[in-house]
Order: sequence, then structure tokens, then C-alpha cells
Amino acid sequence: MFGASAAAVARVTLPLLALLPLVQSNDNGLALTPPMGWMAWERFRCDTDCNDDPRNCISEALFRDMADRLSEDGWRELGFEYVIIDDCWMNRTRDRDGKLQPDANRFPSGIPHLAQYVHARGLKLGIYADMGRFTCMGFPGTTLDRITTDAQTFADWGVDYLKFDGCNSNALEQMLGYPLMSRALNATGRPMVFSCSWPVYVGSLPPEVNYTLLGDICHLWRNYYDIQDSWDSVQFLMDWFFNNQDFIQAAAGPGHWNDPDMLIVGNFGLSLDQSRAQMALWSIMAAPLIMSNDLRQLDNAARGILQNKGAIAIDQDALGQQGRRLLKEKSRIEVYWRPLVDSASAVVFLSRRSDMPFLYRTTLGKLGYGAGHYQVYDVFSESKLKTLNSTETFSVSINPSGVVMWHLQPMGRQDPGV
Ligand code: GAL
Repeated sequence: MFGASAAAVARVTLPLLALLPLVQSNDNGLALTPPMGWMAWERFRCDTDCNDDPRNCISEALFRDMADRLSEDGWRELGFEYVIIDDCWMNRTRDRDGKLQPDANRFPSGIPHLAQYVHARGLKLGIYADMGRFTCMGFPGTTLDRITTDAQTFADWGVDYLKFDGCNSNALEQMLGYPLMSRALNATGRPMVFSCSWPVYVGSLPPEVNYTLLGDICHLWRNYYDIQDSWDSVQFLMDWFFNNQDFIQAAAGPGHWNDPDMLIVGNFGLSLDQSRAQMALWSIMAAPLIMSNDLRQLDNAARGILQNKGAIAIDQDALGQQGRRLLKEKSRIEVYWRPLVDSASAVVFLSRRSDMPFLYRTTLGKLGYGAGHYQVYDVFSESKLKTLNSTETFSVSINPSGVVMWHLQPMGRQDPGV
């Protein structure tokens, strides 16, 4: 399709689309809760220098190390199951049969071997490709005519998850390519999670983005810009997602999720309070919990935040309903809320202040709660608080750029055990 006009692309591809079975690739029982795992990009980028930086370069050793950590340090049991290769794993050219191939120096054992290594540890392997002529970093892309081959290659290799980026393609190619890849993955018969970067490339919002269609063909999708290792970046993303909650919230549900990008907790850019804030707000958003950090050198504080069972349980709640921002107070305190199964709910109080811990006073009634008593569990202090009546004024102390996260259960119902 290189250089082909939009009309020519459509002439070739539209009949093809009609021939393919109308089965939805995301209707395969995968990602019923937001995917969890680890991905290379934010932390390790396109470091291909295995001579000078052997521990951090994009190589099979890096993914083996992360699989070891996920399986030995308690992550897998908490649900962190995908080890995801991002850009820069490929050789600069396809092989003689036109198939993608890994860089032979950095992946000498090949991807099937790596998949076996990951599977042997009870984990799953994700890989990256790009709907376009080249990946974002200039490696071979998946043009429309290559989609079936690449889907089959990934299935043959034992891949369980595909992140399909959209650099170096136009809107028409994307419109054709994403549904085609969804069907091609499905046609391989191997269940694979399909992560689409499509919305990022077409403006992120309706009418340019059809979230209903996305939910039919993708298990998750990157709506907006890449995360970077800073609190500014976390705030920029959370603000976009909550400012646009009326457009995107309804698109999320079991099997189809908005993706505000990776968790950067454990890197260099966030304080502990900001790390709790990212974990809390991603969980309110029902976001995929995909870390990009160095699991070989996480400190205990970062590990504790990422492995917090209460936050994970909220993120992974079976109702699968994405939460919302309820309030932005003049005091620069914000309140976020997410409904959970069995009439439970989660609330996050976020401070945008930069002075001192702020004492915020309110009632559950003011936050929209119906009459009654609620059992409150504080997620990050891991303690049950006193029971609250919806009309009773309470106060919470919220650190600068920090959160307080609560799980609430109406009294008289089963304890969720978080
Ligand atoms: C970007 C994408 C990132 C990463 C990068 C690789 O477009 O959003 O998450 O995959 O490409 O080149």
C-alpha cells in the first residue's frame, strides 16, 4: 500500500473486509477486567545499546528479568500477568517470507522461546506492532497487505497480547486496518488481547472517534498522549480523562477499556503521595494497570503502593464501570467516585494544593450518597475507619499532591474483604 492513494486503498481493501467473518475479536472472554502487567516503553524506551547498557537495552534478557520478577515477587498472584514488549524489538527488515523478525543480536533465542519462558512462569506475552509503513521508531510497520501475515506470525509465536500503534499511516488506512487486524487476530484462533492506539491518531474524541466501534474491535485503546515520568504528565492525563468523562466513561466495561497509559510508580518523577495518587485515580478510571518501571530495583514503598490489594480490587471490580470526577472545590480539593459491585463504591479525595495537609470537611450526602450507614475502609492506611452516617460531617486530611482513597460498603451488606 506504500504510496497508494486513499481511493486505491479502499478499492483493494473494502471487498476484503466484506469477505472476513463478522466476529468481534474482543468477544473472546479476555480482559473482562482491565489488563494488568508490565510494559517496557516508558522506562526503557528504544534503548538498543546492548554493548554499553546490557541491563537496560530492549532485549530478551530484559523481558526474562521482568518475567522472573513478576513471578517471584508476588505480582502474578495479584493479577499482573502480561509482560509486554514495546517498540524496537524488530530487525530493520522482514525475513525472506515477508514475516517480521526480531533483532537477532538482542533476541538471539527468538520470540517463541521468550513466549515459552514467560508462559512457564504462569504469565502471558505481549508484543508491539504498528498499523502503518513504519513503527513510531522507524522499524517495519504493518501495512494493510501485511495484517493477516503479522497476526498469524504472532499467533504462531505464542503471543497473547498485541499493542497496535498507528504511526506512519493515514486516517483511511487506520479506519481499515484496525478492524482488519481485530478480525485477523480472531481468525488465528489464538485468544489475544488487542490494544489499539487508533484514537490517539484521530483526535481522541467523538465524532472523529467512534467509541462504540472501538469497543467492538479492541479490548483497550490508548485515547490520548504518552505518559512521561513526571507529576505534570500524570496530571495532564488525568485531567484529560476526567474533563472528557462524559464522552469516554460509557465506552468502558468488561472486555473494553479506556487506557490512560502506563503506571510510572517506582521511577524518578513521582513523590510517594503522587504515586498513591496515580494508583488511586487509575483505579477509579478502571484503567489497565500496566507498570513501566524497573521491577529489579523497586523500593518497598513503591512496591507497597503498586501491590496495594484494596486499590487493585477497586480497579479490577467486576462491575467494570469507569468512575467519574464528582467535584472540584475552590480549595483545590477534588473528589472522584466509582460504583462497585454489591452497591459498594470507591471515593478518592485529591489535593492539588502545595502548602500543607488540607483538612477537607464534607458529608457522604453531599457526595451523592443515599441515606444510611456506610462502613469505610481506608485503602492506603489499610484500616477500617468508623462507620459513617450519610448526614454526618467528617474530615479527611489530604497531603499536597496526594490522595485519600476510601472503599465504602453500605451497612448490612457482605464485607467485600478488601
Ligand atoms: C508511541 C506510543 C508509545 C510507544 C511508542 C513506541 O506512539 O504511544 O506508547 O509505544 O510509540 O515508539
